[in-house]
Amino acid sequence: MTAVGYASNGQPRKVEAHSQLLGRRIATLGPYSPLFYREPLELVSGSGVWVSDRQGQRYLDAYNNVPHVGHSNPRVREAVAKALGTININSRYLTEQPIAYAERLLATFAPQLDRVMFTNSGSESNELALRIARQHTASDGVLISDFSYHGNTTSLAQMTTGLQVAEPLGDHVRPIRIPDVPQDASAQETASLVSSALAEVDRAIDLLTARGHRLSAVLLDPSFSTEGLPRVPVSYLRGLVERVHKAGGLYIADEVQSGFGRLGSWMWGHQRFGVDPDLVTLGKPMGNGIPIGAVVLPDGLLEEFGSRNQYFNTFATTAVPSSAAQAVLDVMADEQLAARAEQIGRALREDLTGYALTDPFVSDVRGQGLYLGIELTVAGEPAPALAGWLSEALRERGVLASRIGRHDNVMKVRPPLVFGSQDARTLASALEDALAEAAQGEWARHAAVGGRA
Ligand SMILES: Cc1ncc(COP(=O)(O)O)c(C=O)c1O
Repeated sequence: MTAVGYASNGQPRKVEAHSQLLGRRIATLGPYSPLFYREPLELVSGSGVWVSDRQGQRYLDAYNNVPHVGHSNPRVREAVAKALGTININSRYLTEQPIAYAERLLATFAPQLDRVMFTNSGSESNELALRIARQHTASDGVLISDFSYHGNTTSLAQMTTGLQVAEPLGDHVRPIRIPDVPQDASAQETASLVSSALAEVDRAIDLLTARGHRLSAVLLDPSFSTEGLPRVPVSYLRGLVERVHKAGGLYIADEVQSGFGRLGSWMWGHQRFGVDPDLVTLGKPMGNGIPIGAVVLPDGLLEEFGSRNQYFNTFATTAVPSSAAQAVLDVMADEQLAARAEQIGRALREDLTGYALTDPFVSDVRGQGLYLGIELTVAGEPAPALAGWLSEALRERGVLASRIGRHDNVMKVRPPLVFGSQDARTLASALEDALAEAAQGEWARHAAVGGRA
Protein backbone atom coordinates (compact mmCIF):
# COMPACT_ATOMS: atom_id res chain seq x y z
CA MET A 1 0.00 0.00 0.00
CA THR A 2 1.26 3.51 -0.67
CA ALA A 3 0.57 6.91 0.86
CA VAL A 4 1.22 10.33 -0.63
CA GLY A 5 3.32 12.98 1.08
CA TYR A 6 4.15 16.42 -0.14
CA ALA A 7 7.57 17.87 -0.71
CA SER A 8 7.82 21.58 0.09
CA ASN A 9 7.48 22.45 -3.56
CA GLY A 10 4.01 20.95 -3.36
CA GLN A 11 4.86 17.94 -5.51
CA PRO A 12 3.22 14.73 -4.31
CA ARG A 13 5.52 11.81 -3.51
CA LYS A 14 4.78 8.17 -2.71
CA VAL A 15 5.39 6.56 0.68
CA GLU A 16 5.39 2.75 1.04
CA ALA A 17 3.25 1.38 3.86
CA HIS A 18 6.15 -0.25 5.67
CA SER A 19 4.25 -0.65 8.92
CA GLN A 20 0.87 -1.97 9.91
CA LEU A 21 -0.11 1.38 11.39
CA LEU A 22 0.67 3.19 8.15
CA GLY A 23 -1.40 0.62 6.27
CA ARG A 24 -4.31 1.25 8.63
CA ARG A 25 -3.87 4.99 8.25
CA ILE A 26 -3.99 4.77 4.47
CA ALA A 27 -7.02 2.45 4.71
CA THR A 28 -8.91 4.99 6.83
CA LEU A 29 -7.58 8.52 6.21
CA GLY A 30 -6.66 7.75 2.61
CA PRO A 31 -3.28 8.19 0.99
CA TYR A 32 -3.17 11.99 0.79
CA SER A 33 -2.67 12.99 4.41
CA PRO A 34 0.95 14.27 4.40
CA LEU A 35 3.68 12.53 6.41
CA PHE A 36 7.27 13.47 7.10
CA TYR A 37 10.23 11.28 6.10
CA ARG A 38 10.87 8.52 3.60
CA GLU A 39 9.87 6.05 6.31
CA PRO A 40 7.25 7.89 8.36
CA LEU A 41 8.11 8.20 12.02
CA GLU A 42 5.74 6.66 14.55
CA LEU A 43 5.99 8.60 17.80
CA VAL A 44 4.62 7.22 21.04
CA SER A 45 5.65 9.77 23.67
CA GLY A 46 7.18 13.18 24.23
CA SER A 47 8.54 15.22 27.10
CA GLY A 48 10.07 18.70 26.91
CA VAL A 49 12.15 18.85 23.72
CA TRP A 50 12.36 15.06 23.33
CA VAL A 51 10.09 12.59 21.57
CA SER A 52 10.37 8.79 21.35
CA ASP A 53 9.41 6.32 18.68
CA ARG A 54 7.94 2.84 19.07
CA GLN A 55 11.39 1.23 19.15
CA GLY A 56 12.42 3.47 22.06
CA GLN A 57 14.70 5.70 19.96
CA ARG A 58 14.70 9.29 21.29
CA TYR A 59 14.77 12.32 19.02
CA LEU A 60 15.63 15.91 19.85
CA ASP A 61 12.71 17.97 18.54
CA ALA A 62 14.20 20.93 16.70
CA TYR A 63 11.12 21.33 14.55
CA ASN A 64 7.77 21.52 16.32
CA ASN A 65 6.20 24.80 17.37
CA VAL A 66 2.83 23.48 18.58
CA PRO A 67 4.30 22.03 21.83
CA HIS A 68 5.46 25.57 22.51
CA VAL A 69 6.32 25.12 26.19
CA GLY A 70 7.41 21.53 25.68
CA HIS A 71 5.84 18.19 24.88
CA SER A 72 3.49 16.94 27.55
CA ASN A 73 4.04 20.03 29.69
CA PRO A 74 2.82 19.20 33.23
CA ARG A 75 1.28 22.65 33.85
CA VAL A 76 -0.70 22.52 30.62
CA ARG A 77 -1.84 18.99 31.42
CA GLU A 78 -2.92 20.01 34.88
CA ALA A 79 -4.80 23.10 33.64
CA VAL A 80 -6.65 21.09 30.99
CA ALA A 81 -7.51 18.28 33.39
CA LYS A 82 -8.83 20.79 35.92
CA ALA A 83 -11.09 22.46 33.35
CA LEU A 84 -12.32 19.11 32.04
CA GLY A 85 -12.99 17.97 35.58
CA THR A 86 -15.02 21.05 36.50
CA ILE A 87 -16.85 22.81 33.66
CA ASN A 88 -16.21 22.98 29.94
CA ILE A 89 -19.38 24.07 28.22
CA ASN A 90 -20.71 25.78 25.12
CA SER A 91 -19.42 29.34 24.78
CA ARG A 92 -22.92 30.81 25.31
CA TYR A 93 -22.55 30.45 29.06
CA LEU A 94 -20.44 32.70 31.22
CA THR A 95 -17.26 30.99 32.45
CA GLU A 96 -14.21 32.50 34.08
CA GLN A 97 -11.24 31.01 32.20
CA PRO A 98 -11.72 32.52 28.71
CA ILE A 99 -12.20 35.98 30.24
CA ALA A 100 -9.14 35.69 32.48
CA TYR A 101 -7.13 34.52 29.48
CA ALA A 102 -8.45 37.32 27.23
CA GLU A 103 -7.36 39.93 29.79
CA ARG A 104 -3.92 38.41 30.04
CA LEU A 105 -3.50 38.02 26.27
CA LEU A 106 -4.68 41.54 25.41
CA ALA A 107 -2.20 43.04 27.87
CA THR A 108 0.58 41.85 25.52
CA PHE A 109 -0.69 43.96 22.57
CA ALA A 110 -0.61 47.67 21.74
CA PRO A 111 -3.43 49.47 23.62
CA GLN A 112 -5.66 49.92 20.57
CA LEU A 113 -5.72 46.15 19.95
CA ASP A 114 -8.11 45.73 22.85
CA ARG A 115 -10.55 42.98 21.87
CA VAL A 116 -10.23 39.31 21.05
CA MET A 117 -12.43 36.80 19.24
CA PHE A 118 -11.48 33.19 19.89
CA THR A 119 -11.36 30.53 17.18
CA ASN A 120 -10.18 26.93 16.86
CA SER A 121 -7.28 27.17 14.39
CA GLY A 122 -5.04 29.45 12.38
CA SER A 123 -7.14 28.92 9.25
CA GLU A 124 -10.28 29.94 11.05
CA SER A 125 -8.58 33.03 12.48
CA ASN A 126 -7.43 34.20 9.05
CA GLU A 127 -10.81 33.46 7.51
CA LEU A 128 -12.51 35.55 10.18
CA ALA A 129 -10.00 38.41 9.90
CA LEU A 130 -10.51 38.57 6.13
CA ARG A 131 -14.27 38.57 6.60
CA ILE A 132 -14.03 41.46 9.07
CA ALA A 133 -11.74 43.38 6.69
CA ARG A 134 -14.08 42.76 3.78
CA GLN A 135 -17.08 44.09 5.65
CA HIS A 136 -15.17 47.08 7.01
CA THR A 137 -13.86 48.15 3.62
CA ALA A 138 -16.87 47.01 1.59
CA SER A 139 -14.35 45.58 -0.85
CA ASP A 140 -12.45 42.34 -1.36
CA GLY A 141 -9.00 42.91 -2.90
CA VAL A 142 -6.21 41.09 -1.04
CA LEU A 143 -2.43 41.32 -1.29
CA ILE A 144 -0.49 38.23 -0.37
CA SER A 145 3.14 37.16 -0.54
CA ASP A 146 3.91 35.15 -3.67
CA PHE A 147 5.09 32.17 -1.60
CA SER A 148 2.90 31.84 1.46
CA TYR A 149 0.38 29.72 3.31
CA HIS A 150 -2.36 30.97 5.63
CA GLY A 151 -4.79 28.07 5.89
CA ASN A 152 -7.14 25.60 4.30
CA THR A 153 -10.55 27.27 3.95
CA THR A 154 -12.00 28.00 0.52
CA SER A 155 -11.12 31.68 0.57
CA LEU A 156 -7.60 30.98 1.87
CA ALA A 157 -7.09 28.31 -0.80
CA GLN A 158 -7.81 31.04 -3.34
CA MET A 159 -4.84 32.96 -1.96
CA THR A 160 -2.40 30.08 -1.42
CA THR A 161 0.85 30.58 -3.29
CA GLY A 162 3.27 28.39 -1.29
CA LEU A 163 1.82 24.92 -1.73
CA GLN A 164 -0.26 22.97 -4.17
CA VAL A 165 -4.01 23.63 -4.25
CA ALA A 166 -6.51 23.01 -7.03
CA GLU A 167 -8.10 26.44 -6.68
CA PRO A 168 -6.62 29.11 -8.92
CA LEU A 169 -5.71 32.43 -7.32
CA GLY A 170 -8.84 34.53 -6.89
CA ASP A 171 -9.41 37.41 -9.28
CA HIS A 172 -9.44 39.57 -6.14
CA VAL A 173 -6.00 38.32 -5.01
CA ARG A 174 -2.62 39.68 -6.05
CA PRO A 175 0.67 38.05 -5.03
CA ILE A 176 3.67 40.27 -4.34
CA ARG A 177 7.35 39.31 -4.04
CA ILE A 178 8.75 39.99 -0.57
CA PRO A 179 12.26 41.47 -0.92
CA ASP A 180 15.11 39.40 0.52
CA VAL A 181 18.11 41.60 1.15
CA PRO A 182 21.48 39.84 1.13
CA GLN A 183 23.32 40.12 4.43
CA ASP A 184 26.17 42.10 2.92
CA ALA A 185 24.00 44.47 0.86
CA SER A 186 24.98 48.14 0.97
CA ALA A 187 22.49 50.80 2.08
CA GLN A 188 22.12 51.81 -1.54
CA GLU A 189 21.42 48.25 -2.73
CA THR A 190 18.87 47.83 0.06
CA ALA A 191 17.13 51.09 -0.85
CA SER A 192 16.94 50.09 -4.48
CA LEU A 193 15.50 46.63 -3.67
CA VAL A 194 12.92 48.22 -1.36
CA SER A 195 11.89 50.81 -3.90
CA SER A 196 11.37 48.27 -6.68
CA ALA A 197 9.43 45.97 -4.30
CA LEU A 198 7.21 48.90 -3.28
CA ALA A 199 6.67 49.82 -6.92
CA GLU A 200 5.36 46.26 -7.36
CA VAL A 201 2.95 46.86 -4.47
CA ASP A 202 1.67 50.03 -6.20
CA ARG A 203 1.13 48.10 -9.43
CA ALA A 204 -0.66 45.28 -7.61
CA ILE A 205 -3.06 47.70 -5.90
CA ASP A 206 -3.71 49.49 -9.20
CA LEU A 207 -4.39 46.19 -10.94
CA LEU A 208 -6.85 45.05 -8.28
CA THR A 209 -8.63 48.40 -8.45
CA ALA A 210 -8.79 48.20 -12.24
CA ARG A 211 -10.35 44.74 -11.93
CA GLY A 212 -13.03 46.13 -9.62
CA HIS A 213 -11.49 44.78 -6.40
CA ARG A 214 -10.52 47.75 -4.26
CA LEU A 215 -8.08 46.80 -1.55
CA SER A 216 -9.50 45.19 1.55
CA ALA A 217 -6.37 43.78 3.20
CA VAL A 218 -2.80 42.64 3.05
CA LEU A 219 -2.32 39.31 4.84
CA LEU A 220 1.27 38.63 5.94
CA ASP A 221 3.22 36.34 8.26
CA PRO A 222 5.72 38.77 9.85
CA SER A 223 8.39 36.04 10.03
CA PHE A 224 7.84 35.15 6.35
CA SER A 225 8.35 31.54 7.31
CA THR A 226 6.94 29.74 4.26
CA GLU A 227 9.03 32.10 2.15
CA GLY A 228 12.17 30.75 3.86
CA LEU A 229 12.88 33.54 6.41
CA PRO A 230 14.05 36.26 3.99
CA ARG A 231 15.75 39.37 5.37
CA VAL A 232 12.98 41.93 4.98
CA PRO A 233 13.93 45.57 5.61
CA VAL A 234 11.81 47.55 8.06
CA SER A 235 11.44 50.28 5.42
CA TYR A 236 9.72 47.79 3.10
CA LEU A 237 7.12 46.72 5.61
CA ARG A 238 6.45 50.31 6.62
CA GLY A 239 6.11 51.38 2.98
CA LEU A 240 3.84 48.43 2.24
CA VAL A 241 1.48 49.12 5.14
CA GLU A 242 1.41 52.85 4.30
CA ARG A 243 0.31 52.01 0.76
CA VAL A 244 -2.28 49.51 1.97
CA HIS A 245 -3.78 52.08 4.33
CA LYS A 246 -3.74 54.77 1.67
CA ALA A 247 -5.69 52.43 -0.62
CA GLY A 248 -8.24 51.91 2.17
CA GLY A 249 -7.13 48.39 3.16
CA LEU A 250 -6.22 46.83 6.51
CA TYR A 251 -3.00 45.13 7.62
CA ILE A 252 -3.60 41.62 8.95
CA ALA A 253 -0.56 40.15 10.74
CA ASP A 254 -0.73 36.36 10.76
CA GLU A 255 1.14 35.49 13.96
CA VAL A 256 0.47 31.76 13.71
CA GLN A 257 4.19 31.13 13.15
CA SER A 258 5.85 34.25 14.50
CA GLY A 259 3.91 34.88 17.71
CA PHE A 260 4.30 34.00 21.38
CA GLY A 261 7.98 34.92 21.66
CA ARG A 262 9.11 32.68 18.82
CA LEU A 263 11.35 35.42 17.42
CA GLY A 264 12.97 36.08 20.78
CA SER A 265 13.04 39.78 21.57
CA TRP A 266 9.41 40.36 20.67
CA MET A 267 6.27 38.72 21.94
CA TRP A 268 4.75 39.31 18.47
CA GLY A 269 6.50 39.08 15.12
CA HIS A 270 4.96 42.31 13.85
CA GLN A 271 6.74 44.24 16.61
CA ARG A 272 10.07 43.74 14.86
CA PHE A 273 8.92 46.17 12.17
CA GLY A 274 7.47 48.71 14.60
CA VAL A 275 4.17 48.87 12.67
CA ASP A 276 0.95 48.00 14.46
CA PRO A 277 -1.41 45.76 12.49
CA ASP A 278 -5.15 46.44 12.24
CA LEU A 279 -5.90 42.79 12.96
CA VAL A 280 -3.73 40.00 14.36
CA THR A 281 -4.40 36.30 13.90
CA LEU A 282 -3.14 33.57 16.24
CA GLY A 283 -3.05 29.78 16.31
CA LYS A 284 -0.61 26.85 16.48
CA PRO A 285 1.48 27.36 19.69
CA MET A 286 -1.28 29.13 21.59
CA GLY A 287 -2.67 26.08 23.43
CA ASN A 288 0.39 23.78 23.35
CA GLY A 289 -1.57 21.26 21.29
CA ILE A 290 -5.09 22.01 22.47
CA PRO A 291 -6.80 23.65 19.45
CA ILE A 292 -7.27 27.38 19.99
CA GLY A 293 -6.78 30.43 17.80
CA ALA A 294 -7.80 34.07 17.94
CA VAL A 295 -8.31 37.33 16.11
CA VAL A 296 -7.10 40.36 18.07
CA LEU A 297 -8.62 43.64 16.91
CA PRO A 298 -9.64 47.15 17.99
CA ASP A 299 -12.98 47.72 19.64
CA GLY A 300 -14.23 49.71 16.63
CA LEU A 301 -13.78 46.79 14.21
CA LEU A 302 -15.36 44.34 16.63
CA GLU A 303 -18.30 46.67 17.18
CA GLU A 304 -18.86 47.09 13.45
CA PHE A 305 -18.66 43.35 12.74
CA GLY A 306 -20.49 42.19 15.87
CA SER A 307 -23.42 44.53 15.38
CA ARG A 308 -24.00 43.26 11.86
CA ASN A 309 -23.37 39.53 12.26
CA GLN A 310 -24.65 37.00 14.70
CA TYR A 311 -21.24 35.37 15.04
CA PHE A 312 -21.24 32.18 17.08
CA ASN A 313 -18.47 29.65 17.65
CA THR A 314 -19.23 26.52 19.71
CA PHE A 315 -15.81 25.42 20.97
CA ALA A 316 -13.98 28.74 21.00
CA THR A 317 -14.24 30.75 24.23
CA THR A 318 -14.56 27.62 26.35
CA ALA A 319 -12.63 26.62 29.46
CA VAL A 320 -10.39 23.81 28.22
CA PRO A 321 -8.59 25.65 25.39
CA SER A 322 -8.35 28.91 27.32
CA SER A 323 -6.96 27.12 30.39
CA ALA A 324 -4.32 25.46 28.21
CA ALA A 325 -3.49 28.84 26.66
CA GLN A 326 -3.30 30.50 30.08
CA ALA A 327 -0.86 27.81 31.23
CA VAL A 328 1.28 28.52 28.15
CA LEU A 329 1.53 32.20 29.12
CA ASP A 330 2.27 31.23 32.74
CA VAL A 331 5.13 28.94 31.73
CA MET A 332 6.45 31.54 29.27
CA ALA A 333 6.51 34.19 31.99
CA ASP A 334 7.93 32.01 34.76
CA GLU A 335 10.65 30.54 32.58
CA GLN A 336 11.29 33.78 30.65
CA LEU A 337 11.01 31.81 27.43
CA ALA A 338 11.03 34.71 24.97
CA ALA A 339 14.25 36.10 26.45
CA ARG A 340 15.67 32.59 26.47
CA ALA A 341 14.70 32.10 22.82
CA GLU A 342 16.57 35.29 22.01
CA GLN A 343 19.68 34.24 23.88
CA ILE A 344 19.80 30.60 22.77
CA GLY A 345 18.72 31.42 19.23
CA ARG A 346 21.43 34.05 18.92
CA ALA A 347 24.17 31.71 20.19
CA LEU A 348 22.93 28.92 17.90
CA ARG A 349 22.82 31.25 14.93
CA GLU A 350 26.37 32.40 15.58
CA ASP A 351 27.47 28.80 15.88
CA LEU A 352 25.71 27.80 12.67
CA THR A 353 26.98 30.88 10.87
CA GLY A 354 30.44 29.36 11.42
CA TYR A 355 29.37 26.67 8.93
CA ALA A 356 28.25 29.26 6.45
CA LEU A 357 31.83 30.46 6.37
CA THR A 358 33.43 27.04 6.08
CA ASP A 359 30.95 24.51 4.69
CA PRO A 360 30.73 24.38 0.89
CA PHE A 361 26.95 23.75 0.99
CA VAL A 362 25.80 26.30 3.58
CA SER A 363 25.35 29.66 1.91
CA ASP A 364 23.44 31.53 4.61
CA VAL A 365 21.99 31.25 8.10
CA ARG A 366 18.93 33.39 8.76
CA GLY A 367 16.11 33.98 11.14
CA GLN A 368 15.62 35.23 14.64
CA GLY A 369 15.04 33.86 18.11
CA LEU A 370 14.25 30.18 17.85
CA TYR A 371 13.22 30.28 14.21
CA LEU A 372 16.33 29.73 12.11
CA GLY A 373 16.89 28.75 8.49
CA ILE A 374 20.06 27.21 7.05
CA GLU A 375 20.23 27.81 3.31
CA LEU A 376 21.83 25.05 1.25
CA THR A 377 23.29 25.53 -2.20
CA VAL A 378 25.47 23.51 -4.54
CA ALA A 379 27.63 25.47 -6.95
CA GLY A 380 25.61 28.57 -6.10
CA GLU A 381 22.27 26.94 -6.97
CA PRO A 382 19.50 26.08 -4.46
CA ALA A 383 19.89 22.43 -3.35
CA PRO A 384 16.49 20.93 -2.42
CA ALA A 385 17.76 17.35 -2.86
CA LEU A 386 20.54 18.03 -0.39
CA ALA A 387 18.05 19.58 2.07
CA GLY A 388 15.86 16.48 1.76
CA TRP A 389 18.86 14.23 2.34
CA LEU A 390 19.94 16.33 5.31
CA SER A 391 16.58 16.11 7.07
CA GLU A 392 16.78 12.29 6.74
CA ALA A 393 20.42 12.34 7.89
CA LEU A 394 19.48 14.41 10.95
CA ARG A 395 16.73 11.97 11.78
CA GLU A 396 19.27 9.14 11.67
CA ARG A 397 21.31 11.18 14.14
CA GLY A 398 18.30 11.59 16.44
CA VAL A 399 17.26 15.15 15.51
CA LEU A 400 13.99 16.31 13.94
CA ALA A 401 14.11 19.25 11.53
CA SER A 402 12.54 20.06 8.16
CA ARG A 403 12.81 22.53 5.29
CA ILE A 404 11.12 25.59 3.87
CA GLY A 405 11.48 28.21 1.17
CA ARG A 406 10.45 28.68 -2.41
CA HIS A 407 13.27 26.33 -3.50
CA ASP A 408 12.73 23.92 -0.61
CA ASN A 409 16.41 24.29 0.28
CA VAL A 410 16.33 26.06 3.66
CA MET A 411 16.65 23.77 6.69
CA LYS A 412 14.04 24.81 9.21
CA VAL A 413 14.97 24.92 12.89
CA ARG A 414 11.94 25.86 15.00
CA PRO A 415 11.99 23.88 18.24
CA PRO A 416 9.70 24.10 21.26
CA LEU A 417 10.64 27.28 23.12
CA VAL A 418 12.05 25.30 26.06
CA PHE A 419 15.03 24.33 23.86
CA GLY A 420 18.16 24.81 25.98
CA SER A 421 21.82 25.50 25.27
CA GLN A 422 22.75 21.82 25.58
CA ASP A 423 20.00 21.02 23.04
CA ALA A 424 21.44 23.67 20.72
CA ARG A 425 24.86 21.99 20.99
CA THR A 426 23.33 18.57 20.24
CA LEU A 427 21.63 19.98 17.15
CA ALA A 428 24.77 21.78 15.96
CA SER A 429 26.94 18.70 16.34
CA ALA A 430 24.41 16.45 14.51
CA LEU A 431 24.32 19.02 11.74
CA GLU A 432 28.09 19.22 11.56
CA ASP A 433 28.33 15.44 11.37
CA ALA A 434 25.66 15.16 8.67
CA LEU A 435 27.25 17.94 6.61
CA ALA A 436 30.61 16.18 6.85
CA GLU A 437 28.95 13.08 5.35
CA ALA A 438 27.31 15.24 2.70
CA ALA A 439 30.73 16.62 1.77
CA GLN A 440 31.72 13.08 0.74
CA GLY A 441 28.98 13.15 -1.88
CA GLU A 442 26.75 10.69 -0.04
CA TRP A 443 23.63 12.81 -0.44
CA ALA A 444 23.81 12.88 -4.23
CA ARG A 445 23.54 9.07 -4.37
CA HIS A 446 20.16 9.09 -2.64
CA ALA A 447 16.91 10.25 -4.14
CA ALA A 448 15.80 12.96 -1.73
CA VAL A 449 12.33 12.86 -0.33
CA GLY A 450 10.74 14.63 2.61
CA GLY A 451 7.63 16.33 3.83
CA ARG A 452 6.47 19.55 5.29
CA ALA A 453 4.03 21.11 7.66
C1 LIG B 1 1.44 31.27 8.81
C2 LIG B 1 0.32 30.29 8.95
N1 LIG B 1 -0.95 30.74 9.03
C3 LIG B 1 -2.00 29.91 9.16
C4 LIG B 1 -1.81 28.54 9.20
C5 LIG B 1 -3.00 27.63 9.32
O1 LIG B 1 -3.14 27.19 10.62
P1 LIG B 1 -4.01 25.89 10.95
O2 LIG B 1 -3.30 24.71 10.36
O3 LIG B 1 -4.08 25.86 12.45
O4 LIG B 1 -5.35 26.09 10.36
C6 LIG B 1 -0.52 28.02 9.13
C7 LIG B 1 -0.29 26.56 9.19
O5 LIG B 1 0.75 26.03 8.90
C8 LIG B 1 0.58 28.91 9.00
O6 LIG B 1 1.84 28.46 8.94
